[in-house]
Amino acid sequence: MLAPTLQAELQQFEAYLTQQAAQLPYPEMLQQAASYSLLAGGKRIRPLLAFAVAKAFGITSATVYPLAVAIEMIHTYSLIHDDLPAMDDDALRRGKPTNHIVYGEATAILAGDALLTESFAQVTKLDVPSAVAVQLVAELARCAGGAGMVGGQILDLEAENQQLHLEQLANIHQLKTGRMIEIAVVGAAIIAQAQPVIIEELRHYAQAIGLAFQIQDDILDVTATTEQLGKPQGSDLEKEKSTYVSLLGLERAKIALETERQRAYQVLENTGIATEELQALTELICNRQA
Ligand code: IPE
Ligand code: IPE
Ligand code: MG
Ligand code: MG
Ligand code: MG
Repeated sequence: MLAPTLQAELQQFEAYLTQQAAQLPYPEMLQQAASYSLLAGGKRIRPLLAFAVAKAFGITSATVYPLAVAIEMIHTYSLIHDDLPAMDDDALRRGKPTNHIVYGEATAILAGDALLTESFAQVTKLDVPSAVAVQLVAELARCAGGAGMVGGQILDLEAENQQLHLEQLANIHQLKTGRMIEIAVVGAAIIAQAQPVIIEELRHYAQAIGLAFQIQDDILDVTATTEQLGKPQGSDLEKEKSTYVSLLGLERAKIALETERQRAYQVLENTGIATEELQALTELICNRQA
């Protein structure tokens, strides 16, 4: 359960996101398909992290809204494509039929393409000096692209039916999931114009919670229900995916998660910005049940 302040924060952001989606000047079917997945009710963990980091540096959540929208657009596109028959082949996402089930594969692919491209247009709405915007765009592209999330996705597909070393699996998780969490944390710190050394410390925090987030995702695939998750339980098992649970078993996967949780706290304390909200989000990420 989210604290009431975070819930209020989310409501405001959801209204802004809905407004942005309504304004996309696309051909009707594309606008509908993109909005369908974007507004299907994700947990918005990445935006919440960006808001918490912004506030830790004394700027408002609203200041980083365009970054949060951009991240949700890229994250949503990654989910639309992740669910395609050529990838994880899943029929349920955010409690609803997946994009390709409703709109067909071609439209789902294009809705993803449109959301990815749109994310960079959103970043231009930030009220920051142009040098800061350029630094942010470089970071966003690095985290989302072939050296980041997309790179992790291909390694994930190649690892189906394979027995990996733990370091290889950790690398896949860092890339496919960690990088989009990293951009939320580091991106907000860049907008706040935090000192470069602090930004690098925060990157380590983001990497710890990013890995923790995906380990918990692997755990929930076996321990949660489809209803709880809003996506098919057991999907990893069925596809013989490489996950922390398939490699280590459930108990050792939980221990690995706890190690990342402690690492995250350690870094937060070292940087001196262990705000209550960042601690609460760290707990949420490590203990989430959906
Ligand atoms: C799901 O992400 C995909 C992963 C990176 C594990 P989330 O669990 O954040 O999905 P939503 O946005 O809440 O639907
Ligand atoms: C997905 O990992 C990470 C993405 C970049 C989308 P998963 O394939 O485990 O995510 P879910 O379980 O389908 O949400
Ligand atoms: Mg996948
Ligand atoms: Mg998947
Ligand atoms: Mg998963």
